Amino acid sequence: MYSSWCLNSLLSLQLSLLSSSQSVPAPSWDIIDSRPLPPWYDQAKFGIFIHWGVFSVPSFGSEWFWYYWQKEKLKPYVEFMEKNYPPGFTYADFAPMFSASFFNATEWAELLSASGAKYVVLTSKHHEGFTLWGSKYSWNWNAVDLGPHCDLVGELAHAVRNRTKLRFGLYHSLFEWFNPDFLEDAANVFTTNKFPTTKSLPELYEIVNKYQPEILWSDGDGGAPDTYWNSTGFLDWLYNHSPVGKTVVTNDRWGYDTICKHGGYYTCTDRYNPGHLLAHKWENCMSIDRKSWGYRRDAKLSDYLSIEELVKTLVETISCGGNLLMNIGPTHDGRILPIFEERLRQMGQWLKVNGEAIYSTKTWRVQNDTITPGVWYTAGVEKGVVYAIFLTWPKLGMLVLGAPHVTAGETKVTLIGYPERLQWEKFGEQGLLVLLPRVNINQLPCQWAWSLKLSEAT
Ligand SMILES: *[C@@H]1O[C@H](CO)[C@@H](O)[C@H](O)[C@H]1NC(C)=O
Ligand SMILES: *[C@@H]1O[C@H](CO)[C@@H](O)[C@H](O)[C@H]1NC(C)=O
Ligand SMILES: *[C@@H]1O[C@H](CO)[C@@H](O)[C@H](O)[C@H]1NC(C)=O
Ligand SMILES: *[C@@H]1O[C@H](CO)[C@@H](O)[C@H](O)[C@H]1NC(C)=O
Repeated sequence: MYSSWCLNSLLSLQLSLLSSSQSVPAPSWDIIDSRPLPPWYDQAKFGIFIHWGVFSVPSFGSEWFWYYWQKEKLKPYVEFMEKNYPPGFTYADFAPMFSASFFNATEWAELLSASGAKYVVLTSKHHEGFTLWGSKYSWNWNAVDLGPHCDLVGELAHAVRNRTKLRFGLYHSLFEWFNPDFLEDAANVFTTNKFPTTKSLPELYEIVNKYQPEILWSDGDGGAPDTYWNSTGFLDWLYNHSPVGKTVVTNDRWGYDTICKHGGYYTCTDRYNPGHLLAHKWENCMSIDRKSWGYRRDAKLSDYLSIEELVKTLVETISCGGNLLMNIGPTHDGRILPIFEERLRQMGQWLKVNGEAIYSTKTWRVQNDTITPGVWYTAGVEKGVVYAIFLTWPKLGMLVLGAPHVTAGETKVTLIGYPERLQWEKFGEQGLLVLLPRVNINQLPCQWAWSLKLSEAT
């Protein structure tokens, strides 16, 4: 096994040396950035992120467990290990315990679909380097050789495609905290590129060819520039020669110098939610657990965002031109715990009523109202339709909207999911006052935010 791995990497090294001496230079970012984003992505608006890996076994603190424990030697992590595991226990010893014994890809797919999401992004490999598929380039550090002994990426891809209309996407970390080849390149200030040529790039080609993800969510530049990762070279292949060239969407994490600048849509920082319109398509990736992406057993109920907070985040994000990628962390044995399940189903319930104010909408002239706080706008597909989504039900049952231009006799106002048209009157120079239905809250179509549809408004 060991010698064949050596042979393999030697061979690919020779091949890459051979091809780089003959190959054309990698294309510029100008060329990569000029590719229009496939339209499905902006229309989809909402996706689910899944952080799953060996870190789900200790499930303590964060998915950065290994790094915090052994590199930063943070006290809570060191103490957790001293208290719960025998001396000499290594991170690799967690891998056989990554059992996925309750994992049912069909159940996951059905739950993801019930959330109203239109795409899913699974961590195919996080910074720990463990691949959830049987990668040829991750010998004995993958889910087929160890732990579940099963191709988790393939199982989920298959179930999602067979059972739902969701698009399937993969997260992939470029760097690996403790990979000796990466550390050697780093020690050489990235003047050598053994790690990308023998590890990260071959893996990227492998997952794209094998699973045909329609989102490739890159992460973990490891402090190296995009030229070290050969990102434009890879993206040129992805866009122009790969099996997903037409529909694939990527993000901006292709080197420390590309974030919020180059690639597909922008992610900028984790939990990015600027509160204003951006000229470039962007995504707010955030986690239901405020403090972690991977599942952690030490989370309190208050660490999980409430459905009110999640709907608020969705609405703000969509109004400002972003997509929301909301993360869950399954357990080491493949369960999506009831707290995550509840949030997913609640989002689905809300979107089932209010989906027309979210999916396929465009950004409007104004993002949030000029008078009433907590009112966010989207523009409908239909001309002259504006949606005003309000996060709190006004005490007096009257909502003032300062931004829309309306015309008496022409503008119609309805509450989505409520059958009768609403009365309204002009308010000041510009704007309107809407009389909301006077009914008990549980007779309303939804509970956590409501959408007014204004027709013939500008
Ligand atoms: C997975 O879940 C589905 C839906 O609940 C069920 O029909 C199926 O039998 C389960 N598969 C296994 C292997 O348990
Ligand atoms: C898709 O799922 C159905 C059950 O809903 C099953 O009968 C069928 O074999 C599956 N198709 C594939 C290609 O696996
Ligand atoms: C970078 O990518 C390009 C395009 O795929 C390829 O021709 C070139 O050989 C790659 N360079 C390295 C060093 O891998
Ligand atoms: C609109 O949203 C921005 C960003 O969140 C905020 O600073 C501003 O106060 C909001 N305006 C109103 C009227 O609430």
